[in-house]
Amino acid sequence: MSGRRTPTHACLVVCPPGLEELVADELVALGARPGRRGKGTVTVDLTTRRLYAANLFLRCATRVLVRVGGFTVRTFADLERRIGELDWDSWLAPDVAPRFRVTTRHSKLWHDGAIAERFAAALGPGSGTEASNGGPNPLIVVRAVDDRFTVSIDSSGAPLHERGWRQATAKAPLRESVAAGLLSSAGWDPTSPLVDPMCGSGTIAIEAALRAAGVPPAHDRDLALRSWPCFEPGTWASVSADVGRERREAPVPEVDGPPRIVAADRDAGAIEAARANAERAGVADRIEFRVAPVAALEPPVESGSVAGLAPGLVAVNPPWGGRLGGGDLRNLYATLGRVAAEQCPGWGIGVLVADRALARQVRPGLTEQLHLELGGRPAHWLTGRLASQTT
Ligand SMILES: C[S@@+](CC[C@H](N)C(=O)[O-])C[C@H]1O[C@@H](n2cnc3c(N)ncnc32)[C@H](O)[C@@H]1O
Repeated sequence: MSGRRTPTHACLVVCPPGLEELVADELVALGARPGRRGKGTVTVDLTTRRLYAANLFLRCATRVLVRVGGFTVRTFADLERRIGELDWDSWLAPDVAPRFRVTTRHSKLWHDGAIAERFAAALGPGSGTEASNGGPNPLIVVRAVDDRFTVSIDSSGAPLHERGWRQATAKAPLRESVAAGLLSSAGWDPTSPLVDPMCGSGTIAIEAALRAAGVPPAHDRDLALRSWPCFEPGTWASVSADVGRERREAPVPEVDGPPRIVAADRDAGAIEAARANAERAGVADRIEFRVAPVAALEPPVESGSVAGLAPGLVAVNPPWGGRLGGGDLRNLYATLGRVAAEQCPGWGIGVLVADRALARQVRPGLTEQLHLELGGRPAHWLTGRLASQTT
């Protein structure tokens, strides 16, 4: 077989721990072949086109790092020499001062600050200069393990889970990337209804509505890669055109009738925040907001048998504690399970919990889909099916 191979970049996709397999699935959907999984990381070789697409379309990722080079060194003199040998001109404009994030393990050169200084001395003319795109200065990530240094540049800029729509927060908001992961791993079909009866700032419902509308997560973000000297405007334009196609081919392109997505919370302030966020995200017309306790959980109006919609999903991130004591929490979770089964028979249910025993109050026999770490604390996403009325 002949033919030119398109050059690829060795990349590391960073994500919240627990979402690695979902990120790998998303990479496969972009035509890439994911490699090794680490805690919160997935390696993958990406063409320039796929690198741009990964930044625009990955819903579960935090950032995409691109390898600039690697070397083994044990002295600062060798480190300085090897830094000078890397091809920085492709990645850094001459007037931009990068930031450095250094970690070391089992290495002779272990002083992170001293290593960052060597990089800054070699690369940081006029430190403090703003990046030309007005965003944060480029981030260079340096990792040394057993004296082997890997030097990467961040292609994303602000973390990809910061979609830009969430300015109003309620209590304990989820990252947008985590909400997207919950929906994917529950197998939610974007044409079917969804109810979050304890929605807080609305993250799960808004991510669901964006998916139904075919809005790519980073569609209006200023990505760091756009200020690289090697940035390819033609390739970018062609990948951006895919954003338009995604929207045209959205699972639910137009809102036809009452919304299929319900976001409810007993706290009126939370609903106000959720609505403001949904408006910024451009999906407020796709969500029905309700100030209501979980005991009043109901499916969206149109999701009954009349509309003939597929059974939906109750997706919920209940409080984990706070002012609620153990007995109150158990009651709350039991009420959730009972009312969901009464109101949404045959639907799926997904519950994000810190304590698996509490999930049993909702419904016995739920299956753990994701083992996450949220704010350094283990969390479990358990899913199952609510019995249909005939059973
Ligand atoms: C962990 S927060 C949800 C955070 C949300 N996933 C987000 O990303 O912003 C839990 C929410 O449950 C709500 N809540 C607590 N008890 C409730 C009840 N009995 N009925 C309805 N909502 C309740 C709280 O007001 C809070 O907004």
